[in-house]
Amino acid sequence: MRVGLTYDLRDDYRALGGFSEDALAEFDSPETIDALEQALAANGCRVERIGHIRSLASRLVAGESWDLVFNICEGVAGRNREAQVPALLEAYNISYVFSDPLTLSVTLDKAVAKRLVRDAGLPTAPFSVIENDADARACSLAFPVFVKPLAEGTGKGCERASKASDRKALLSAARSLRARFNQPAIAEPFLPGREFTVGVVGNAAAARIIAVLEIVLLQNAEPDVYSFENKELCESRVEYHLADDAEARAAGATALAAYRTLGCRDGARLDLRSDAGGVPQFLEVNPLAGLHPTHSDLPILASLSGMSYETLIGEILQAAKLRTGVGLVQSKRRRRIPA
Ligand SMILES: Nc1ncnc2c1ncn2[C@@H]1O[C@H](COP(=O)(O)OP(=O)(O)O)[C@@H](O)[C@H]1O
Ligand SMILES: [Mg+2]
Repeated sequence: MRVGLTYDLRDDYRALGGFSEDALAEFDSPETIDALEQALAANGCRVERIGHIRSLASRLVAGESWDLVFNICEGVAGRNREAQVPALLEAYNISYVFSDPLTLSVTLDKAVAKRLVRDAGLPTAPFSVIENDADARACSLAFPVFVKPLAEGTGKGCERASKASDRKALLSAARSLRARFNQPAIAEPFLPGREFTVGVVGNAAAARIIAVLEIVLLQNAEPDVYSFENKELCESRVEYHLADDAEARAAGATALAAYRTLGCRDGARLDLRSDAGGVPQFLEVNPLAGLHPTHSDLPILASLSGMSYETLIGEILQAAKLRTGVGLVQSKRRRRIPA
């Protein structure tokens, strides 16, 4: 099976020029692409590197095609940036791994995702979208609140100042986030409880939890928040362990239900944090979860639960094959040959 690999490498965008380092923060490192290529090859794929959307576009226009595209492009601009590669692939009728454009857009906007999750009756904290100072003044949430950019990832803009204990702090934090990220901010009550991230693979009724990972910040970490800096320096600042007590299982159940509600496909990672009563609240879903073999949360939780990187990628690939039918025809034919 010929599998194209679409991805956004920091160096490719640096070479194009005109992008800030902040805009490239979520992009992948060459080690991730090497590891992914090897894992796909080990799962029987003939891998062709495609790279970013511009490279994909020119190859499509030149008439190239693939049986399946394994897409991990984060995109560059706007809240639909993750949807762009899948939308282009759909226009050319090419099947791809992971969620479709609607899910990728809906989940990048944390408020839209939370509205759908709340509508499904799942626990997610109340929130306020802050587009200007008037919104911050009108915000009726009880303090302390946590304020972050509406449509970012990797802990960007989630930092010490995100925890605002009064209205003045909220006004100033929201102002600074809006200016830095050029988008509205979202405020929620500060959730003081345990933090979980849940890995899911598969589709619809067959979707299943790989494991629930608890994230524990060490003494030397930036306090209270699994921030961009804490993530970057996770090897020395964060302790990860699998959790299977009642609260962790509740986090898993909410995560799996949110995965299905939001129409996630093939695999994803969902973040939750508990309120003061110990009830895990949906924060957000990462339908394009980081896939660095040792540094990203999904491979970390898979590995702690005894699933190798190769098997994790194999499970995601298998989910996409079952969903699309791509790569299954040959084995069906084989089964029909009498023994
Ligand atoms: N309402 C909240 N209360 C407490 N901490 C929060 C809240 N929202 C986010 N955080 C902290 O910020 C981190 C990043 O937030 P998240 O919504 O997952 O955004 P990102 O897309 O950047 O990962 C979380 O892992 C958590 O530590
Ligand atoms: Mg997160």
